[in-house]
Amino acid sequence: MFKKSIAMVGLVTSAAFMTGCGPSDDGITSNSTGSEIFEQVCSACHNGGVMGFVTSAPAIGDKEAWVALESKGIDSMTQLSIQGFNKMPAKGDCGKCSDQQIKSAVEYMVEQSK
Ligand code: HEC
Repeated sequence: MFKKSIAMVGLVTSAAFMTGCGPSDDGITSNSTGSEIFEQVCSACHNGGVMGFVTSAPAIGDKEAWVALESKGIDSMTQLSIQGFNKMPAKGDCGKCSDQQIKSAVEYMVEQSK
């Protein structure tokens, strides 16, 4: 007599999803300056390129846009940038950036847009 045993093999499917395919904060350290943070993080949307067009982020160098924004004050702009609003991600998705560094990046954009 033969007894057939059937082994059921459970398949374990694991799917790893990486989140955050936006700008990269890879090169950011606590010493990064406002301009470096702008270049590596914020410029993805704030350089007037495709992402800027899609998200309607105010582009660096767009005097009209930034003069209007600056009238709110650097502090309130910084606060919004840290919290995020609409399509502007919190801290521009830069997990490593300190609040102070975000402020420097905001100041840099304002300075470059005068
Ligand atoms: C994924 C795209 C994206 C990235 C990256 C990004 N921004 Fe923005 N940002 C936006 C958009 C879109 C707006 C306009 C939001 C609106 O007015 O609805 C905005 C608006 C702003 C404003 C205007 C705030 C105000 O008071 O209206 C500031 C300041 C700003 N961003 C700073 C930054 C800084 C600093 C960084 C980098 C650390 C950054 N952004 C990265 C998309 C982005």
